[in-house]
Amino acid sequence: MTVHIGAEKGQIAETVLMPGDPYRAEWAAEKFLDDAVCVNKVRGMLGFTGTWRGNPVTIHGSGMGMPSLSIYANELIRDYGAKTLIRIGSCGGMQDAVKVRDVIIAMTASTLSTPSRGIFKELNFAPCADYGLLANAVATAKSRDVPYHVGGIYSSDVFYDERPDLTEQMERHGTLGVEMEAAELYILAARYGVRALAVLTVSDHLKTGEALPSEDRERSFGDMVEIALEAAFPDA
Ligand code: HPA
Repeated sequence: MTVHIGAEKGQIAETVLMPGDPYRAEWAAEKFLDDAVCVNKVRGMLGFTGTWRGNPVTIHGSGMGMPSLSIYANELIRDYGAKTLIRIGSCGGMQDAVKVRDVIIAMTASTLSTPSRGIFKELNFAPCADYGLLANAVATAKSRDVPYHVGGIYSSDVFYDERPDLTEQMERHGTLGVEMEAAELYILAARYGVRALAVLTVSDHLKTGEALPSEDRERSFGDMVEIALEAAFPDA
């Protein structure tokens, strides 16, 4: 057990999928894993471990925002030995070519700050995805005919953003979408020498105001779970 995770040592797999929403973790574990058991309930942050095509997998919520994700990812890596962490979540689209329902595979994530900012001081560290996971996810998205984009995203500290000037600059520089967790996950993976990736569904669009109807969210979320699992286990 750790401060925030009630699992025993050995109950967390080396491969962890991290949706923001704990109920999404429960849904994905029931739908995609065999023999899934709940391994964490502390503070309502649900985690489940089972197998996918015979490979052990944990699906554990991250909560919303980098401070929350940082707590769980730190404990999963340092205390439970997680080696591959894939965020699966939603994001807001920021480019005309990026449509609601499309998948974004995040190569890098810009930020104003992360929980790790203090250690970098004047350095603008560039958080980046694990290339092997990214290449596998791209191959899977392509083979499934899922519309996808690969590139930079913005990991924001706020959902209700009050800096339209910054959004404009990021759009101008090709940023594909905005979410709230990936940058810190990539930084922690770099620090501890493990692999990380974020696979995101565009749930709403900053430019058009369009939003994914709730009945479509489940299907899009399912696509992401499958892309993440195949990225982690390309030979399974
Ligand atoms: N901002 C931040 N995070 C998000 C958004 C957004 O517009 N949409 C989905 N996650």
